[in-house]
Amino acid sequence: MDKRKTKLTMSQVMYPHQANLAGNVHGGEVMKLMDTTAAAVARRYARSNVVTARVDELQFHHPIFVGSLVTLTATIAYVGRTSMEVVVNVYIEDLESDTEPIRALSSYFTMVALDKDGVPKQVPPFVPETEEEIMLYNTIKERREALKKKSGK
Ligand SMILES: CC(C)(COP(=O)(O)OP(=O)(O)OC[C@H]1O[C@@H](n2cnc3c(N)ncnc32)[C@H](O)[C@@H]1OP(=O)(O)O)[C@@H](O)C(=O)NCCC(=O)NCCS
Repeated sequence: MDKRKTKLTMSQVMYPHQANLAGNVHGGEVMKLMDTTAAAVARRYARSNVVTARVDELQFHHPIFVGSLVTLTATIAYVGRTSMEVVVNVYIEDLESDTEPIRALSSYFTMVALDKDGVPKQVPPFVPETEEEIMLYNTIKERREALKKKSGK
């Protein structure tokens, strides 16, 4: 499998208009960036338009302040027939210090590929390769099956 198709990274410096008066970047601003990154990797994988169907396990581990460099990584970790589950992590880096980047947010985005008529369309199959990829794939598969059972679909 072509690894370039399942991973994508985007970086951006945070500015005052994205923050509150104390300098904390709004959660919604970062969530939008996460959604944008997930959509980009999914669009490239599907080679079509995609929409966000679901967001799971969104966690804010650390605050983000104005001036931080925010780097988002999006990795396709599971693919169904028309949907793709994307793991999104957000790392923050203080550009004026020697400290290592730390993970500030994480989440799972379910993106659905759509054809030109807006109907869900089939995407290429995904085969996890490394031990880590296989473990994550199986975890997501179990969660999706449990959700389907719960919703009666
Ligand atoms: C997402 C959407 C296209 C699904 O439409 P639908 O008629 O339910 O389509 P289907 O039942 O064929 O489901 C398509 C896929 O989406 C998945 N899906 C649909 N709703 C889901 C949900 N709430 N959570 C997780 N997956 C979901 C299905 O499991 C299926 O996956 P699979 O093909 O890999 O098995 C539709 O609900 C929609 O347009 N929602 C609004 C999306 C949106 O506007 N997002 C914000 C802006 S991008």
